[in-house]
Amino acid sequence: GWLRYAPLPEKIAKCHAKSIPSQVKVLGATDGLPLASAVNELKLGLRGIMGKEVDVHSEGCLGDETPTILLSTLENYVSACGELDADEPPSLEEDGFYFNTKDGNVVILGSNERATLYGTFEYLSRLAQANFEAVEYVDNPEANIRWGNHWDNMDYTSSTHGSVERGYAGVSIFFQDNKIRSDLSRVAQYARLLASIRLNAIVINNVNANPITLTDENLEGVGRIADLFRPYGVQVALSLNFASPVELGDLDTFDPLDEDVVRWWDDMIDTIYGVVPDLAGFLNKANSEGQPGPLTYNRTLAEGANMMARPTARHGGIFMFRAFVYDHHLDHRDWYNDRANAAVEFFQHHDGEFEENVVVQIKYGPIDFQVREPPSTLFAHLRDTPMAIELQVTQEYLGQQNHLFYLNPLWREILDFDLRVDGEASYVRDAVSGKRFGHKLGGYAAVINVGMDRNWLGSHLAMSNLYGYGRIAWDSQSDSVEVIEDWTRLTFGLDRRVIDTIAEMSMLSWPMYENYTGNLGVQTLTDILHTHYGPNPASQDNNGWGQWTRANEHSIGMDRTVWNGTGFAGQYPAEVAEQFEHIETTPDNLLLWFHHVPYTHVLKSGNTVIQHFYDAHYDGAEAAQTLVPMWESLKGRIDEERHAHMLRRLVYQTGHAIVWRDAVNYFYHNLSGIEDEAGRVGSH
Ligand code: GCU
Repeated sequence: GWLRYAPLPEKIAKCHAKSIPSQVKVLGATDGLPLASAVNELKLGLRGIMGKEVDVHSEGCLGDETPTILLSTLENYVSACGELDADEPPSLEEDGFYFNTKDGNVVILGSNERATLYGTFEYLSRLAQANFEAVEYVDNPEANIRWGNHWDNMDYTSSTHGSVERGYAGVSIFFQDNKIRSDLSRVAQYARLLASIRLNAIVINNVNANPITLTDENLEGVGRIADLFRPYGVQVALSLNFASPVELGDLDTFDPLDEDVVRWWDDMIDTIYGVVPDLAGFLNKANSEGQPGPLTYNRTLAEGANMMARPTARHGGIFMFRAFVYDHHLDHRDWYNDRANAAVEFFQHHDGEFEENVVVQIKYGPIDFQVREPPSTLFAHLRDTPMAIELQVTQEYLGQQNHLFYLNPLWREILDFDLRVDGEASYVRDAVSGKRFGHKLGGYAAVINVGMDRNWLGSHLAMSNLYGYGRIAWDSQSDSVEVIEDWTRLTFGLDRRVIDTIAEMSMLSWPMYENYTGNLGVQTLTDILHTHYGPNPASQDNNGWGQWTRANEHSIGMDRTVWNGTGFAGQYPAEVAEQFEHIETTPDNLLLWFHHVPYTHVLKSGNTVIQHFYDAHYDGAEAAQTLVPMWESLKGRIDEERHAHMLRRLVYQTGHAIVWRDAVNYFYHNLSGIEDEAGRVGSH
């Protein structure tokens, strides 16, 4: 990944060697905790990047003549050395750190141990990018929930052993054959990656949770996993299956108001915390896609969540409750049905009913990780309930890591959306951080499907999304180009040509993919019934899943208006609702999300909808043809192994983009019978 600690070019290293202190002082490090890891990383990093060895002392303050790298929590520093000699005492929030490389020393003081580790990774990242600037600053996170979600299964069939749902990089690093792996060496490596991007918790098992995760033997294994993450300040969390009292216990009900059920969960949660006392908490998918939940017993979602959240709160844990609740047997013949309405319909009346440690985890769009969606309307409705946004590092609908798709620009667009709640600035980023509605809790979760593949995500370039997720969860306004450039320097070195080329390819990737897949907000148009991969526009409609496009011979698009459609547009606060209610004020790129129009409808661009489809697919596929030459131009500038591996994927993408182009264009040509003005589709 990006933690290679590769040597800097000799000239640069030599020139700056003197500015790196040779002595490290670390206050209060204990083996197995983040400060000790910070020292190890520092030694490893300085050796790798600068070829420098350092002496480590376990006490002492600044002040003598010898330049020093000082690692400590702020609290320990102040009690050992007195007030910090700074213009202003640093104001640190949870997980924030103070960083100062002025005056010849390097001072890294965290609000807690893992924050000191974050600061240490920051220092090493700067060095690895040949950034020797003398600086002093405080870096605080925007949100305190910065979690990863694994969809790893505990399964064992003749063909699957620890499979990963929507995983495209090999089997689980955690599970095998219904058990926790005995060799967890990849987990220790993974912990370093996560800490370096400042993720503070990781849910290790699938939201479609298998109750057997909670057997005594498996909990012991979860304990071993937590022991590997703990030194890096990453807390483990678990997905829970709502029906566990029946599936695993010997009860005949999982009714959340049943006393025995309440007691069962109390005991179980105590047992889990007995094994992992610093567990971050739990994640639950209830009453969605066949999963059990409180609705089975006519109890509310809040009653269900609270029942498990209460014992979790006693241990200081967080209960993440997913808003991805919808009916996947919707009647498609009913014009007014709409899966996009579900989250608000299910949750809005329960705002304020949840226990304080419940955080509602909301997918960024109202449907499901599509190439373009407007933000979920639920972000505007939960004023009295903390929220987290759910993103996917996993490229589920987005090419499954066989297509290059750099996600930060897409995430930025959602986070920067202003929902105008009560007519006031209400950016999605501020709703989820807790700032807009005044919550302490809030933040980010992302589905991350790393697997046993050596390069973690199957594709080397896909790793920029994991890195980029950490950056955006810490600072939602991080600049997408800066992030990809930083990642490239850390991953491939300082060659300007390499940095510029990878940044160009990455920034091209979202518009390009959108062009050759689903345009104008119609959704991605992958097969939605099985693979979520490859073109299959026909699979969207005429089934219960609710990812409809309503395409017929004359017209296309979901009418989500209030006046004539499903009413979804009206779930946004007034100003936004008004904008999406009307075709004239709906941007072209979301037209078919909100409106049903004839193929001959003229867009703001002047093109008709159908001609836009044809042109965009040619543009997208043509843009894809530039990827291989761009990548080939880097031959010799990056190592042969990674170059060859990526080249194979890009060649594949180039071809698959053409398959996409033709499949989608011919589908709509056949359906509408309208010729392509440029004569490319249907005339041969
Ligand atoms: C998608 C995905 C499923 C997943 C579900 C979820 O539908 O394809 O694999 O279980 O989302 O987020 O719960």
